Amino acid sequence: MQTALSSPKKSLRAVLVGSAVLVLAASLGTGGAAGSVSRAAPGCNRGSLNIERHRYGTAPSGATVHLYKLTNSHCMRVKIITYGGIIQSLSVPNRNGRTRNVALGFSNLDDYVEQNDPYFGAIIGRYANRIANGEFTLDGVTYELPVNNDPNTLHGGPKGFHTKVWDAQPAQDANSVGLELSYTSRDGEQGFPGRLETEVRYTLTENNALRMHYLATTSQPTVVNLTNHSYFNLGGEGTGTIYDHRLKINANHYTPVDSTLIPTGRIARVAGTPFDFRTPKAVGARIRNSHPQLLTGLGYDHNYVLNGGQGLKPAARLTDTKSGRVLHILTTEPGIQFYSGNFLDGTLIGTSGHTYRQSDGLALETQHYPDSPNQRNFPSTVLRPNETYDTTTVFKFSTTG
Ligand code: GLA
Repeated sequence: MQTALSSPKKSLRAVLVGSAVLVLAASLGTGGAAGSVSRAAPGCNRGSLNIERHRYGTAPSGATVHLYKLTNSHCMRVKIITYGGIIQSLSVPNRNGRTRNVALGFSNLDDYVEQNDPYFGAIIGRYANRIANGEFTLDGVTYELPVNNDPNTLHGGPKGFHTKVWDAQPAQDANSVGLELSYTSRDGEQGFPGRLETEVRYTLTENNALRMHYLATTSQPTVVNLTNHSYFNLGGEGTGTIYDHRLKINANHYTPVDSTLIPTGRIARVAGTPFDFRTPKAVGARIRNSHPQLLTGLGYDHNYVLNGGQGLKPAARLTDTKSGRVLHILTTEPGIQFYSGNFLDGTLIGTSGHTYRQSDGLALETQHYPDSPNQRNFPSTVLRPNETYDTTTVFKFSTTG
C-alpha cells in the first residue's frame, strides 16, 4: 500500500546556503493569500514567506540540533527545533499589530534537554498522556512500558519523541512555508511494539495558521497517539497567569480521572459543572471550585470528548481580551486535553527570563483519550501494518477588537 509517508515531497524547494543558515524566500509578488488577518496592522512589520535554519546546539546523542524560523507576511513567526520537534516560540500580532511570543519555552537547548518536565512545545509520542500501570495488551500479548509518572507511563515514556532529534526538510509553496520532520522509532523502543515511521509536517500559512499533520506507519500492530504539547499565554510568555483568558471547548462530555489521572472509563456530562466550556468562560472563574475532579487534577487536567465526529472540526477557542489575540484550534482528533499548567511551580526560567508559576500558560493537547489501550469503550488507538496513522491539528490565530 502506498502510504503518505513514501509519497514524493512535491512542495519541496529547498536551497542550502552555506552550512550555517538556510534561507528560503517566496517570490510571492504583492498579493499573497487573503485571510481574516490579511491587512497589516499598525506596528506589524510585514515580511515575506521565509524559512531560515540556524545551528541550535548538540544533543546528548552527539547529533546537531537546528532551529528553523518560519515567517509569513502577516506578522506570524514560528521557531521549531529539531530536538523533540519543539515549537520553541510562536509570535503573533495583537490587535494593534504588536507581535509577541505566546508559547512557553526555554531560551537554550540545555534547558530543553535537562529540565523540560512540562514538555514545553514538544511532539509527544508514541503515546500522548498516560497508560495505566505502564502496560497494555494487544492481540493477546502484554507489553510493559517504562513507568515515568508513578504508577503510569506518561507521554511515551522517559525517552519519548520529545527527546529525539528529528530529521528535517523545509518545504514551501506560494501560500505557506513548512518543515517536515521525520523520525523512525525502532521496534520495542520505550516498550512499544513495531518499527514506527513517523512524520510531523508543520506548515505556516498566510492566514496565520500553523498546521500540524501527523503520519505514521508500523511494521507490527501497535498503539499510537501523537500530539503537540505547546503551552499558550496569549498576553505573551512570561506575563503572568492565563486566568482571564476566555476558553471555549466544543465538548458536551469529558473523561473524569482517578487519583493517578487515569480515566475512570466514565464519559461524564460537563453540564452543570466547572468543566462546562461550551460557551466561553474565563479559565480562572471556576478553577478554585471544590469539584472533586478539580481537586484531583490540581485544576484542569482532563480530556474532553469533542463534539462533531470525524474530519477537521473546531475544537477550542482561546481569547485574550486584553491583547485581542485569539487562538482557534481545529483537529481531526476525537479529544483534547485541557491542562491548566498545574505543575508549574516557579522553579523554571522561561524564554524571556521570567519564572513560570502555576497557570502561567495552558496546554490544549489534541489527542485520542488517555489510556485508550486499556479502555474498551474509548476510540481505538491501534495501528496495524496495512494502515496509516493520519491526523491533523491547526492552531489558527486572529484578533478581536
Ligand atoms: C499533560 C498531563 C499533565 C502533565 C503535563 C505535563 O498535560 O495531563 O498531567 O503531566 O502533561 O506536565
